[in-house]
Amino acid sequence: MKTAITEMFGIEHPIIQGGMHYVGFAEMAAAVSNAGGLGIITGLTQKTPADLANEIARCKDMTDKPFGVNITILPTLTPPDYPGIVKAVIEGGVKVVETAGRNPVELIGPLKDAGIKVIHKCTSVRHSLKAQSIGCDAVSVDGFECGGHPGEDDIPNFILLPRAADELEIPFVSSGGMADGRSLVASLAMGAQGMNMGTRFIATKEAPVHENVKKAIVEASELDTRLVMRPLRNTERVMNNAAVERLLEKEKELGDALTIQDILPEVAGVYPSIMQEGDMDKGAWSCGMVAGLINDIPTCKELIDGIMSDAEKILARMNAMQAA
Ligand SMILES: Cc1cc2nc3c(=O)[nH]c(=O)nc-3n(C[C@H](O)[C@H](O)[C@H](O)COP(=O)(O)O)c2cc1C
Repeated sequence: MKTAITEMFGIEHPIIQGGMHYVGFAEMAAAVSNAGGLGIITGLTQKTPADLANEIARCKDMTDKPFGVNITILPTLTPPDYPGIVKAVIEGGVKVVETAGRNPVELIGPLKDAGIKVIHKCTSVRHSLKAQSIGCDAVSVDGFECGGHPGEDDIPNFILLPRAADELEIPFVSSGGMADGRSLVASLAMGAQGMNMGTRFIATKEAPVHENVKKAIVEASELDTRLVMRPLRNTERVMNNAAVERLLEKEKELGDALTIQDILPEVAGVYPSIMQEGDMDKGAWSCGMVAGLINDIPTCKELIDGIMSDAEKILARMNAMQAA
């Protein structure tokens, strides 16, 4: 399939694997890219720019297809070494960067000067327009359904995507709640040029996470995620578990007095234990409502090939309706 996104990124299928903390290692990105999508290494999972440079080199050993790096811009007082991260990306010859979080305006100049395409992930039409105005090449429009940070507007993709289509001039992909051929055709129908998936890619054979994580996603229904940190205006959609219930109890008890310090045990530094050791109740980990649509653990190639052939069948069925 050829869309503005496949053309822009030089990929076969209009499917992107969004950056995911402690999931987006070289193995994940290479598997998605080798399957014809765009795999993405998560920049901030690497402790230093030198580690990121090493991860990029490892990914290049595993694929000769294009892949990207996610740079998440966090609201923090002691920011990571963003100039060092950008340098590692440029020197590593990476051709695509997915930015997310805060406004990426300070990174755009050096990335664009190096000929890198920038796709900014954001959760509202106004942030998408901002991304367009500062020179991003594309946006990833992340609806309220998404795993991770859905923002504070709570607009689901059936509204958000057509709104984005009505306002944006640059191409965009859908993100949040995407799982299969139906998601892809629906995204294209609503004006997107492709789709971005997070949670769905964790439940694949190559995802470099503990089997317990994949099992938790397969077993979960669409009712099993919760929104945490809403009182801090840093809302995150996570899989429900004992730690999340404890966290929500604290939110209820403390109300407006809640601070990040109160919930540090549930949210700070918990990803390595969860993703690598499979300690599923260790803390809050991002997961989308789309878990309800995930019932298997295919290879990335099986997943992407299945999405593309299902999309073709749906389009043929719709064409037949039209012809009838
Ligand atoms: C476990 C996990 C970790 C994530 N970590 C990040 C991250 O570090 N940076 C980022 O921009 N997005 C992150 N995301 C969001 C994804 O890139 C993607 O936007 C989101 O998962 C899309 O929603 P879906 O899960 O419904 O497909 C994460 C998502 C998950 C499930």
